[in-house]
Amino acid sequence: MRTLITGAAGFLGSHLCDAMLSEGHSVVGIGNFSTGSLDNLRHLRSEPCFELIEGDVSRVFDCGHVDYVFHFASPASPEAYTRLGLETLQVGSSGSFNSLKIAKKYGAKYLLASTSECYGDQLEHPQKETYWGNVNPIGPRSVYDETKRFAEALTMAYRRYKHVDTRIVRIFNTYGPRLHMNDGRLISNFVRQALQEEDLTIYGTGEQSRSFCYVTDEIDGIVRLSRPNVNGPMNIGNPSEVTVLECAKLVLRLTDSPSKFRFLPGMEDDPRRRCPDISEATTLLGWRPLVSLEAGLRLSLKYFKDAMVREAAAV
Ligand SMILES: NC(=O)c1ccc[n+]([C@@H]2O[C@H](COP(=O)([O-])OP(=O)(O)OC[C@H]3O[C@@H](n4cnc5c(N)ncnc54)[C@H](O)[C@@H]3O)[C@@H](O)[C@H]2O)c1
Repeated sequence: MRTLITGAAGFLGSHLCDAMLSEGHSVVGIGNFSTGSLDNLRHLRSEPCFELIEGDVSRVFDCGHVDYVFHFASPASPEAYTRLGLETLQVGSSGSFNSLKIAKKYGAKYLLASTSECYGDQLEHPQKETYWGNVNPIGPRSVYDETKRFAEALTMAYRRYKHVDTRIVRIFNTYGPRLHMNDGRLISNFVRQALQEEDLTIYGTGEQSRSFCYVTDEIDGIVRLSRPNVNGPMNIGNPSEVTVLECAKLVLRLTDSPSKFRFLPGMEDDPRRRCPDISEATTLLGWRPLVSLEAGLRLSLKYFKDAMVREAAAV
């Protein structure tokens, strides 16, 4: 099996490369390094079954014959997709077209990395796959939310009209080693601020909820989804819901940090609650997350500390 992973140098893409290699696939990764880092793939430098192409998947490309395509390329953090708004729209639209064309050309299976943000500021809780969402199509988050919704529509259209064997994973907030330290995601923000003994920034009241999935659980769910013939979108995330404030307090406790909280105005269209209904994944894939938030944060702390030391040394 030769597998293409777009966004291979990113947080999830790099873990997926590891997972596919350990399943015995040969992997070709492609990425433009706009938000990813070569550091995430450094351990694969002398891996004979791994090949890395530097390229922008929003432009037409051809990586040769593949049996599987995982389309993971996209800025993913609010900081990144706000800074790269047009590029985000492009990779969700043209990038999805180009990667689906590869799947069609080589008769490969296809898996799209979609997001819980397709549900927007949800009116249904927890979110089931059947919920159509409540997304502001013109707000600041729309460059990300709407391009992912378009990518889902396109993936389903390739399934219906072009008979490509497709899957869609709706990923809920995932964290762990290789998460970028400075891209404004909640966990990396809190951990960095706590370790630097700065106040933790909380947007709004902190009462908004999130569900955080540890990266090994997320990748396990995605790998399982890649196997059977499940065509609809599937939620893969941890249904254990915490408020932003609870998460911040946990980070302070685990890092033994003297930091306090700094409350800032809430962000526009920030979802008030986020929690996946994972009954489909549990029933159809036999999957459920195993790592609690506390255990996952403990597992991530060494990586975050080392990343900060590397960062300081680079300055
Ligand atoms: N991490 C999460 O919590 C989460 C949640 C929901 C969805 N997702 C989805 O999972 C995927 C991976 O997210 P991540 O957290 O690893 O993000 P990331 O920013 O770490 O990785 C994304 C990768 O895609 C690459 N990329 C972006 N545009 C590209 C382009 N035009 N051509 C080639 N490469 C390009 C980046 O350089 C980076 O390596 C994304 O599609 C994201 O929307 C992630």
